[in-house]
Amino acid sequence: MDRLFAACPDFYHMKDYGDERMAAIAAVIRSEVADCRSLGDVSVYEGYALGLVARDLGCTDLVGCDLSTVALERARSSLHGTFVPFDLNRLYDDPAVTLPIPRPDVLLVCECLYYVGPVANLAWSRPWINRSRKLAFIGALQRHARKAVLIQHFGARQKQAIGDLVTEAGGRQAEDRWGIWLLPAAS
Ligand SMILES: C[S@@+](CC[C@H](N)C(=O)[O-])C[C@H]1O[C@@H](n2cnc3c(N)ncnc32)[C@H](O)[C@@H]1O
Repeated sequence: MDRLFAACPDFYHMKDYGDERMAAIAAVIRSEVADCRSLGDVSVYEGYALGLVARDLGCTDLVGCDLSTVALERARSSLHGTFVPFDLNRLYDDPAVTLPIPRPDVLLVCECLYYVGPVANLAWSRPWINRSRKLAFIGALQRHARKAVLIQHFGARQKQAIGDLVTEAGGRQAEDRWGIWLLPAAS
């Protein structure tokens, strides 16, 4: 990924998609989470989505991680916050692992789950594949937030399959177009 991202800044063409996704994420947090003062992102990429959501909410306490050190360097140059490398597969393999960032009020898990786990996208598009392992992973994410975990994936199959798991884990759908689901943090 580092080599891809180094060769192609804005590899995912985030800016071409417009900012409606981030506006929808911010709207859900504003209406569903009281007093969100800190935001974290488990796949912060170049900081684009986190930056827009944070600006919309007026939130300045930011943390994030990502597999790619190239993407993290770009996040650091555009945002103030703590951004450190982490492979989500470590948490998938062992849900007792601790994320290397302080626990934020709201933890964002957006457009990244299809990279995680042995059959990655296939499993996150079908709820029955590796169901208990994925539920354990979601439970681990809930322990890394103070108030809520926001999960967002807009691919039709992923949206449904991830939504089924989130519901089973005690969460609920907050928005349909972008596939936004909200889970309470683990107490
Ligand atoms: C499609 S981008 C999404 C970025 C951002 N979350 C958003 O919604 O705009 C996927 C991101 O996941 C990261 N990623 C891929 N595999 C990962 C892994 N195993 N652990 C952590 N991050 C990973 C990539 O480096 C990339 O930054």
